[in-house]
Amino acid sequence: MTERTASNSSDLFDCEAVFCDDYLHFYGPHLSPEFNLQQADVVWRLLSISADCKVLDLGCGHGRIANELARRGARMSGLDSSPFFLNVAREAARREELTVDYVEGDMRELSWRHEFDAIYCWYTTYGYFSDTENIEVLRQCFNALKPGGRLLIEQANRNALLRRGLPFTEVTSRGDDMMIDEVDYDVFEDRTRTRRSMVRQGKVSRANFSIRLYSYAELAARMVRVGFSSAEGFGRGGQPFTTYDPRLILVARK
Ligand SMILES: C[S@@+](CC[C@H](N)C(=O)[O-])C[C@H]1O[C@@H](n2cnc3c(N)ncnc32)[C@H](O)[C@@H]1O
Repeated sequence: MTERTASNSSDLFDCEAVFCDDYLHFYGPHLSPEFNLQQADVVWRLLSISADCKVLDLGCGHGRIANELARRGARMSGLDSSPFFLNVAREAARREELTVDYVEGDMRELSWRHEFDAIYCWYTTYGYFSDTENIEVLRQCFNALKPGGRLLIEQANRNALLRRGLPFTEVTSRGDDMMIDEVDYDVFEDRTRTRRSMVRQGKVSRANFSIRLYSYAELAARMVRVGFSSAEGFGRGGQPFTTYDPRLILVARK
């Protein structure tokens, strides 16, 4: 377990080094069309999306879920801070003649007010910042939703991760290339701290990132604190949440 350190969002998550071409290189084979379809199904169902709903994918990455929901008829927007990922997302949408409003921005400062029927922050995209800023993200989502709108947040289930035991090392290989994650847990701040080393064509690069993991009760309480009327927990496939599930999905209603 790591020593207590001061939290400051700029050194918590090195976004530029993590969310770049290397991410697509190593995660690409895992993020198959079938996998994306399964995940889009869960989002669609848990948020009760129907054709014509206005939906925001918060931290949309390269658009693998937003494009699928647009294909089903939802009126999609996708916000991400990575121009590189947004270009990949736009190009994929263009190839299929899908309409998605892809916007570059920071989830801590959303300009929309009472705009969306549903917002989702999917695939470990929440918890990158300090506690105060993470709550601000919830508040921004609350403001961007219409009355009765729904917010979905998906994270690793802290309980299941701790039961697995930390620290651990995870290796992802693709041909001769390798990505090595050394994952530790900061018990004072309830954050993972990961040191990532990537080897591509013999060249080594590194990135550090940390994610604040909330328990079901903590995240639900924070959602209610910013104004949501209720929050309900689900596991990876959208079934009711249990402490053993590897993922935690919370759906809050405005
Ligand atoms: C783990 S990826 C997940 C992407 C996508 N949700 C998916 O399911 O594939 C996290 C995404 O969050 C984006 N991101 C990180 N910090 C952000 C911020 N402050 N505002 C908006 N997006 C951000 C990254 O650029 C990246 O695309």
